[in-house]
Amino acid sequence: MTETILVAVAWPYANAEIHVGNLTGAYLPADIFSRFQRMMGRDVLMVSGTDAHGTPITVRADAENTSPLDVYKRFHTGFLELFQKAGLTYDLFTSTHTENHTEVSQKIFLALKENGFLYKNTELQWYAPSQGKFLPDRYVEGTCYICGAKDARSDQCDTCGNMLDASQLIDPKSKIDGSTPELRETEHYYLDLGKLQEQIVSFLESKRDFWRPNVIKQSLGQIEVEGLRGRPITRDLDWGIPVPLEDWNGKCLYVWFEAVIGYLSATIEWGRLHNQPDIWRKWWHDPECKAYYFIGKDNIPFHAIIWPGELIGVGTKFDELFGSQPALPMTLPYDVPANEFMNLESRKISGSRNWAVYGRDFLTRYDPDTLRYYLTMNMPESKDTDWDWEGFVKRNNDELVATWGNLANRVLSFANKHWDGIVPEPGDLTELDQQLLSEVEKGFTTVGDELNLVHLRAALSEAMRIASEVNKYLDQTAPWQMVKQDKAAAGRSIFTALKAIDSLKIMFAPFLPFTSEKLHGFFGYSTPLFGEQVVQSVEDQLGTHEVLLYNAPERQLTWKPSQLRPGTKLQSPQPLFKKLDISVVEEERARLG
Ligand code: MF3
Ligand code: ZN
Repeated sequence: MTETILVAVAWPYANAEIHVGNLTGAYLPADIFSRFQRMMGRDVLMVSGTDAHGTPITVRADAENTSPLDVYKRFHTGFLELFQKAGLTYDLFTSTHTENHTEVSQKIFLALKENGFLYKNTELQWYAPSQGKFLPDRYVEGTCYICGAKDARSDQCDTCGNMLDASQLIDPKSKIDGSTPELRETEHYYLDLGKLQEQIVSFLESKRDFWRPNVIKQSLGQIEVEGLRGRPITRDLDWGIPVPLEDWNGKCLYVWFEAVIGYLSATIEWGRLHNQPDIWRKWWHDPECKAYYFIGKDNIPFHAIIWPGELIGVGTKFDELFGSQPALPMTLPYDVPANEFMNLESRKISGSRNWAVYGRDFLTRYDPDTLRYYLTMNMPESKDTDWDWEGFVKRNNDELVATWGNLANRVLSFANKHWDGIVPEPGDLTELDQQLLSEVEKGFTTVGDELNLVHLRAALSEAMRIASEVNKYLDQTAPWQMVKQDKAAAGRSIFTALKAIDSLKIMFAPFLPFTSEKLHGFFGYSTPLFGEQVVQSVEDQLGTHEVLLYNAPERQLTWKPSQLRPGTKLQSPQPLFKKLDISVVEEERARLG
């Protein structure tokens, strides 16, 4: 049976340009993992989209004197461009501002309501008398009542990672004019997390020894200390998904409540776009389907507590309301491999202080695989890491170019020069040749095992180690000298090295897809390794939205050792990577701050 895998990737807010910290935190690891799983022949669906609603977007629109729709569209377009250029193969990258997402979110809300997991409550919310309106979430900042951080937002503290109860925020200030808001009563719907606690806890218990420690700490650990209380899931805001009830005009679903539903709605949209309206059930009702959520650490409570809570609470009710049969419960997350943060030159990345390296800007000067390599080698999988320009140049020159790029180029060029670009006939392989090839072959297991566990740094390091072994082998067999005295022996080691490189190309492919694809072409293959990314316009009641789609190649096992045969015609190679001058460090540092 083919394994089914859902790769659910955090939805970027449409209020800021995407920087390297966002890329290495969630989007890139999701792509590497998806590419690998597709190469394993698995049935992968990688979905996400722009998080278009809520105060992150309205606050920006207010500041720019424009509309939230305008802000959302502008950033969304930029995201599509970046993801194509960086090679992020979302099967669907859509948006929460769609008719489809509206329908699905409202049905989830109603399913929870009918199942008795929502309740109404009149709460105290911050209100600005000067503006005559409520100030939800990011409109109010103040001191976190849990950790004391000064820059907490009223719904969430990025310092301690907790979801906050807005009314308890200390020293609240309006984001609009710095004035002190007052508490006023307003009615909202709450998600009854208290009622769901037992089931959420037993779900998390089953993950205790498997999930990353920080994810367990920020979910199960928190619940053990504080327990769970109801959370308001509606807001006094008119930009968002309307609450699907009469007399609730002017209120919307809380952005976090609906954005996580995007994983489901995007799966449904993907099916609708491919004329398979029921296929989403494959990823949402099959208990064997493994759903991986790629997120940054600031998103942990929403993916490890709230979203499982919504799914448990919905039960089979979503199918009933959606008219899909038989009505089945929803698939819970299998893994939430949340990453820590990446800093920049030892300081926290900050857009407002211009202390950031933005994806799109970076890619106007450097190649995508260079970015992907450095970000993977420094991925904050278990602790915060640092982007430093000196390290960037070093890793590019000493590892990517010296160990891998030169190896491929040298061997292919040599084969072109001395064997007319035909893979030489090796005769009987020596023990050394066989040793190398079996070492390379083992890599498919060792690198693959790390990839399966989402240990991407370790996986890439292992592939790099194997590339070094090929270099050592060539130092030992020295075909460049040997060709003058014993062309057959030189041909044998060139054959062996070509085969090793052809295999390494596959192992590097999830990480370095652009250069692996090129190399694949140099080896003369006619079918590409990967599919194509395309942008498509979709019309619905809310207008037009552009989506990014991936036309994946037919499912088959391509994660396997090279079958390269003597006599194969090679193409003439070009260098895969560029060496960078050390002056890049000063140039790039000068752009910061
Ligand atoms: N927009 C949020 C962020 O950038 C992430 C949302 S993930 C989602 O931090 F699933 F909720 F959409
Ligand atoms: Zn805090």
